[in-house]
Amino acid sequence: MGSKLVTIQRHIMEQQASHPEATGALTRLLWDLILAIKVINREVRQAGLADVLGATGAQNVSGDRVQKLDEFAQDRIFKAMDHGGHLCCMASEERAEIIPIPDRFPKGKYVLLYDPLDGSSNIDANVTIGTIFSIHRKRSSGVNGTLEDCLQRGRDQAAAGYVIYGSSTMLVYTTGQGVHGFTLDPTIGEFLLSHPDIRCPNKGKIYSVNEGNWNTWDPAMRDYVTYLKEQDPATGRPYTTRYIGSLVADFHRNLLYGGIFLYPADCRDPKKPKAKLRLLYEAAPLSMIAEQAGGAASTGRERILDVAPGELHQKVPVAIGSQADVALYEEFVKAGKTPDRIRAAQAARA
Ligand code: AHG
Ligand code: MN
Ligand code: MN
Repeated sequence: MGSKLVTIQRHIMEQQASHPEATGALTRLLWDLILAIKVINREVRQAGLADVLGATGAQNVSGDRVQKLDEFAQDRIFKAMDHGGHLCCMASEERAEIIPIPDRFPKGKYVLLYDPLDGSSNIDANVTIGTIFSIHRKRSSGVNGTLEDCLQRGRDQAAAGYVIYGSSTMLVYTTGQGVHGFTLDPTIGEFLLSHPDIRCPNKGKIYSVNEGNWNTWDPAMRDYVTYLKEQDPATGRPYTTRYIGSLVADFHRNLLYGGIFLYPADCRDPKKPKAKLRLLYEAAPLSMIAEQAGGAASTGRERILDVAPGELHQKVPVAIGSQADVALYEEFVKAGKTPDRIRAAQAARA
């Protein structure tokens, strides 16, 4: 961190200044969200002392076991964001339907979509978890937000970001003007600019995937991972595996160090591939961050930011991280190439 202290509030305001047409609504919306994040952070930091660990006994719409902290974070974000007058509706991984703004509060021109707590299976083991958010402009003409306002392509996001409750708490965000990271100074309760203009290395040495799913992958995915385990022509060494099981944490590490995170579909029934990660709350916001940092994000066949959502809890296969790594993965998937053919193609190019 340099000698000049820049709070996240000041940073957001300065970014807004480069848009003379901006009304300040997005700035104030993000400020409200930061407050909710600080409250969630306080609770996460007390996990183990206060009674916030463990499951609630319920399942969410995707069939995941809901943890107490999932519900706490869901409630905090909703309560911090329902009355600010900047949102027309919200949608969350933890709620089956769109979340209306209560009648008594004013409505605004933005939509907030979020994963209140990411990596929740890791909570009880004190492993890094996170929060992911995505903000869209309202499209429909009425006062209240509609499903149409939520089902927008990732490329139309007005802002996106995530928080990582790690050895320190960081907030990383973009409004389409690069990616900027802030670290919470707990002694003053402020997020301070610590990682200005984050750039993702063009190629990495790390791959992150739940390899236990090997038997569920299609052959192109297996070929790709086999290829990564062989000697990388760029380094003379195979790639390294790092997998935390919290998307935010795996993504954040690869964003800084370079590398690729993969969550391909379960292809055991080739007619019905089943993806795991949610387009609106996980894949799209992190894809905007990746691209804004010079990285890439793909389903293997399509840029994630171009995927048109058909439903709130739609899932997509995800390959995200360094541009060259994602491009090579796409070559495997699209062309169905085998490692030998890829090597031959690379040799021919060299
Ligand atoms: P969430 O905790 O929000 O339900 O997300 C869990 C996600 C993501 O964080 C992680 O990358 C992935 O699930 C891990 O899945 P596996 O346990 O199947 O590897
Ligand atoms: Mn998640
Ligand atoms: Mn979650």
